[in-house]
Amino acid sequence: MKSIIIIGYMGAGKTTVGKALAKELGVMFYDLDWYIESRMRKTVKQIFDEIGEEGFRKIERNMLHEVAEFENVVVSCGGGTPCFFDNMDYMNQLGETIYLKASPETLHTHLKMGKGVRPLLLNKTPEEVEIFIREQLKLREPFYNKAKHIIDINVMDDFNKINGMVEQIRKMLNV
Ligand code: S3P
Repeated sequence: MKSIIIIGYMGAGKTTVGKALAKELGVMFYDLDWYIESRMRKTVKQIFDEIGEEGFRKIERNMLHEVAEFENVVVSCGGGTPCFFDNMDYMNQLGETIYLKASPETLHTHLKMGKGVRPLLLNKTPEEVEIFIREQLKLREPFYNKAKHIIDINVMDDFNKINGMVEQIRKMLNV
């Protein structure tokens, strides 16, 4: 099996879906942010605070190369991973890339419910976050749209969302 790499904006559900998919397939799951945190022994927030976004992106690229070389794994990336360096082309070369596509409204709702600390959204009012998501998504979609497969998560009903996505991925990839 080629590695499966899940991409998409913050709040799309990359980690949740990746984890569930890996469990179904009986393969290892790696979340790139968690991998960075355990390798660097620092949280993503600490890395942003200490060396800024530019420094984080360099680490992220190196860690992506480590993780993407593993075989038979499911990897979920950070929201920005596909948008820096040649990361997107690199991921397409190595694995089956899947973009979890969601509207700004869905992303905002998910992000409000989530508890994780996201350095890019800190110190913003809900209105500012909404505008930020809309604007950043426009800039990022050209990268996300390079994925080999796209799943629109808005068209799924909430109840079976995660299982539905896992099933759809398995069918799409025949795994
Ligand atoms: C980022 C998304 C985060 C994390 C970092 C930057 C981004 O990952 O990598 O805070 O640029 O969108 P998640 O998408 O898993 O929240």
